[in-house]
Amino acid sequence: MRPNLPLKKRFFQAEGNLNELFTFAFVCRIELELQHYIIMSKTILVTGASRGIGFQTALKLAENGHTVIATARSEKKLNALSEQAESGSIIPVPADLTILSDIGRLAEAAEAENGLDGLINNAGLVHREAFMETDIEDFQKLMDVNVYGIVRLIQALKPQLKKGSHIVNMSSMSGYLGSLKFPGLSAYGAAKAAVIGLSEVLSAEFSEDEISVNCLAIGAVQTEMLEEAFPGFEAPVSPQQMGDYLANFVLTGHQFYNGKVLPVALNDPS
Ligand SMILES: NC(=O)c1ccc[n+]([C@@H]2O[C@H](COP(=O)([O-])OP(=O)(O)OC[C@H]3O[C@@H](n4cnc5c(N)ncnc54)[C@H](OP(=O)(O)O)[C@@H]3O)[C@@H](O)[C@H]2O)c1
Repeated sequence: MRPNLPLKKRFFQAEGNLNELFTFAFVCRIELELQHYIIMSKTILVTGASRGIGFQTALKLAENGHTVIATARSEKKLNALSEQAESGSIIPVPADLTILSDIGRLAEAAEAENGLDGLINNAGLVHREAFMETDIEDFQKLMDVNVYGIVRLIQALKPQLKKGSHIVNMSSMSGYLGSLKFPGLSAYGAAKAAVIGLSEVLSAEFSEDEISVNCLAIGAVQTEMLEEAFPGFEAPVSPQQMGDYLANFVLTGHQFYNGKVLPVALNDPS
């Protein structure tokens, strides 16, 4: 067998010899799989990948053969994610999004993978307390992780975002204009509304670099965050379901949307 000959020529050379034909079919299959892998496999950075929605998103992307740079503060949980993934590739990079030197490590990891096709800014913190009792430090903490974490990361990763790449920022119905609001989420709602504003402006700024930016304002998903904020509440969506949706959205959503804030919720947002 000479794998570098054109397919038709190789087929006629192999004709008549069953062993040769089987080998030929096997080589073709490997070549096709390699081509599929090279063309289709993407590199996506997912923040907040140690649990909840981020964990499931990273797992789904890896399952589909993609490379995931998975980050959060907990190294142990990121390693558990990497062990759980049976295909694709998970590269765990522990980082705190409030620490600039940690962000630098994420940029290095992205550069080592020859850049990113997608970035999912999913990490987040919640705080539920009556507005009059909420300290300004709590507001600042939520802004620091939920908003400035995204700002720091995008500023550091911009050179690694390829033409045609897609940034997905995770907001919440708590920050979505006109949606039903819940008492106690003033700091969270304000931070998530800021993520929406930031996303819209970035999509305008990055369009000349052919980088799309969309924002998802999601409704309740059954995660530890939800349980912390609303103990006993039963959400209609599981983290696996939202992870599947996000994994697909980061790869395909920018074919249909740019600069959009999409409510991903089963309840009526108005
Ligand atoms: N669940 C819901 O009902 C719901 C609804 C609306 C919007 N959302 C949004 O969806 C996203 C995911 O939510 P989730 O429910 O999956 O939350 P989660 O289970 O609490 O996970 C949050 C993730 O963020 C990471 N994180 C927190 N602080 C960080 C920091 N300083 N640096 C780096 N990573 C940090 C956590 O990892 P470490 O602790 O290991 O760092 C964790 O992996 C969040 O942005 C959330 O606001 C969720």
